[in-house]
Amino acid sequence: MSDAAPEKRLYIKTYGCQMNVYDSERMADVLRPLGYGLTDAPDEADLVVLNTCHIREKATEKVYSELGQIKRLKAAKADAGAAMLVAVAGCVAQAEGAEIRRRQPAVDIVVGPQSYHRLPELIARAHRAAGETLAADFAPEEKFDALPTARAPDGVTAFLTVQEGCDKFCSFCVVPYTRGAEFSRPAAAIEAEARALASRGVREVTLLGQNVNAYDDGGSGLAALVRRLARVPGLDRIRYTTSHPRDMDEALIAAHADVEQLMPYLHLPVQAGSDRVLKAMNRGHTAEHYLRLVERVRAARPDIALSGDFIVGFPGEREADFEATLQLVREVRYASAFSFKYSRRPGTPAAAMQGQVADEVKAERLERLQGLLGEQQQAFNRAQVGCVLPVLLEKPGRREGQIAGRSPYLQAVHCEGDLGLIGQVAPVRISSAGANSLAGELAAVATA
Ligand code: SAH
Ligand code: SF4
Ligand code: F3S
Repeated sequence: MSDAAPEKRLYIKTYGCQMNVYDSERMADVLRPLGYGLTDAPDEADLVVLNTCHIREKATEKVYSELGQIKRLKAAKADAGAAMLVAVAGCVAQAEGAEIRRRQPAVDIVVGPQSYHRLPELIARAHRAAGETLAADFAPEEKFDALPTARAPDGVTAFLTVQEGCDKFCSFCVVPYTRGAEFSRPAAAIEAEARALASRGVREVTLLGQNVNAYDDGGSGLAALVRRLARVPGLDRIRYTTSHPRDMDEALIAAHADVEQLMPYLHLPVQAGSDRVLKAMNRGHTAEHYLRLVERVRAARPDIALSGDFIVGFPGEREADFEATLQLVREVRYASAFSFKYSRRPGTPAAAMQGQVADEVKAERLERLQGLLGEQQQAFNRAQVGCVLPVLLEKPGRREGQIAGRSPYLQAVHCEGDLGLIGQVAPVRISSAGANSLAGELAAVATA
């Protein structure tokens, strides 16, 4: 990038999932030619963007409380004779639209996930303090065509959005409403972006989508895309997230068996282990279907690390249903997982269901589930001690002389090492395991 020194400062705060992380980077890319450079000090910013998440009530509340703070910064700037524009992007913008500006008049721009390419226009309009500043209509093709992809990655790993939206309509979830229908980018555009990233030093890409394994480019699915990207020179590692059990086809399972670059890690949310609850969630699969799927994936790639998402206290969940979740977890043995108390989201079918579960019950179940998942994660990490793992070295470690990276199973690994090794996949002998990371020593580095 041949930027002149930026004249204006942009502060972006990102909430929610990796799709938002990717989108925040794209927003920075769109705004760079307008003279905006990133700052991490909101009080200095000429433009503040909150890229928001609507998935649970807490996530949405955080946005309004952050806006309260931003409003004070904006007032202080105005007192000093300077202007600050405030934009709300992401899923709260999409779901609550103009309501945001009613609740917080300090907000100048509300922009939904499909309209980021229109930010320059929205900013100009906001500067004129006139006209329509709400852009939340869906047109995903336009978004991807219009956003710059010749970006400057700031590390050796990068996210790459290949699919957006969701047609599954799980009864608890806002995503089909905030991100719209499933849409897949053409494989050629994705490959071009991956080649550009690799040529700028990126060694690992994580393909992103709300239902990434529903990826479909004219009948060609995620497995074909993975095989295509595996031929890109310099890309050592490919990952993808998040998958739906219903879209996990034979071709993708087979790719795990024979594509060397495809990492042995699979985030495959199940949400619950009781068929009664799964049905009420409209998941479209049973516990048995999920367990058989896990078996098939493990048959293809025996060492694969499994991860999942869980919701406890879904409306109507009884103790026996919750125990079925614990039982499923015991059978699968997860390497890592995310678990949440059910959060009632306005407008979703589950919000109107009978049998909402008391918060104390949800809290107690969450604690039990997290206890079990935590033990499994520890066990998975401990099992690596003594092994030599290929680690993609990504950045300086927390302590002087340390270097940090990721194992094939997405575990954080740190060891003593020269920063010049960043960007290489190096063998590391694992010497100890914590709850969330591994430590080790570089093994057998080829020296002449
Ligand atoms: N598309 C992905 C992820 C969606 S959001 C998938 O289908 O797996 C990430 C996670 O948030 C979900 O997997 C679910 O576990 C959780 N989640 C979504 N809506 C929720 C709600 N209303 N309450 C609590 N957790 C929720
Ligand atoms: Fe939400 Fe279900 Fe779609 Fe995942 S599959 S985004 S949980 S509706
Ligand atoms: Fe949140 Fe939207 Fe992602 S609701 S989880 S930011 S798709």
